[in-house]
Amino acid sequence: MFKILKAEHLAENIILMDVEAKRVAKSCEPGQFIIVRVDEKGERIPLTIADYDREKGSVTIVFQPIGASTHQLAGLKAGDSLMDFVGPLGRPSDLITEDLEVTKKKRILFVAGGVGTAPVYPQVKWLHEHGIAADVIVGAKTKSLVIMEEMMEKVAGNLYITTDDGSYGRSGMVTKAIEDLVAEGKEYDVCIAIGPMIMMKFCCLTTKKLGIPTVVSMNPIMVDGTGMCGACRLTVGDEVKFACVDGPEFDGHKINFDEAMKRQAMYRTEEGRNLLKFQEGDTHHGGCGHCGGDE
Ligand code: NAD
Ligand code: FES
Repeated sequence: MFKILKAEHLAENIILMDVEAKRVAKSCEPGQFIIVRVDEKGERIPLTIADYDREKGSVTIVFQPIGASTHQLAGLKAGDSLMDFVGPLGRPSDLITEDLEVTKKKRILFVAGGVGTAPVYPQVKWLHEHGIAADVIVGAKTKSLVIMEEMMEKVAGNLYITTDDGSYGRSGMVTKAIEDLVAEGKEYDVCIAIGPMIMMKFCCLTTKKLGIPTVVSMNPIMVDGTGMCGACRLTVGDEVKFACVDGPEFDGHKINFDEAMKRQAMYRTEEGRNLLKFQEGDTHHGGCGHCGGDE
């Protein structure tokens, strides 16, 4: 069992939990995810790691209660325990794994949308700890939905908050903030955009126009997080990939977002899932090697 050390609301309907998970905390890296299961009847919930403390042996998750399982998770408090907390899963961010001297030369822009601010944080923190100051745009619908501002302020080179309704910081969506920063003379070698699918799609259209290579995290399309359900299949360039096995981060300029969002919508119904299985045949599943997958 995995004890919840802290549970608090960051904003309406956005919850942060610190969970005691010594083995995960010891080896996880920014960009990876874990799978939570509240009890033996609970669904598997894949969540990107929002922070970790190797000494304390804790891992931070941030989530929105949307379905039954995330509502059940949201109902727990400090002192309660989770049945499963599996990970770290997926590949760490490229910025963390590439040669540090290469990363140090890059002018890096993070674009965090809403709850997507949580997975951006450990990457910016890691870079800060290695002497690299990245610019960060945090976008939210309105002031009360801006999360982790103080934490991000401490690790970002420059932090730009923008709200859709202009109630705090700059006014407008994150794509406008990207364009404005570049118009103000900022130059970037790489952009990492993490947030809702629609945001990542439009960030990629914007950065393509501006000539900034862009990485996105495809966590939103994951369901079981094991490479077996087939939910997170996506097309990257001319290749079929699975977000949970091959990602979750990919070259955003190569992703077919429209297809991924259409699949995401179809996956919500049993009829849609059956149709996808029929259309995709053996390549429907991911690459675990045990499930008649695409190997
Ligand atoms: P939201 O809808 O409030 O959007 C956050 C920001 O994204 C907005 O303030 C805006 O600046 C930008 N945005 C939204 N639509 C846009 C568009 N069409 N063009 C340009 N910018 C746009 O976000 P939310 O409700 O906090 O996010 C919830 C979603 O975030 C869930 O769907 C969840 O799956 C996703 N999420 C993704 C990740 C990830 O790893 N990619 C991690 C956590 C959550
Ligand atoms: Fe099920 Fe990736 S989430 S195959």
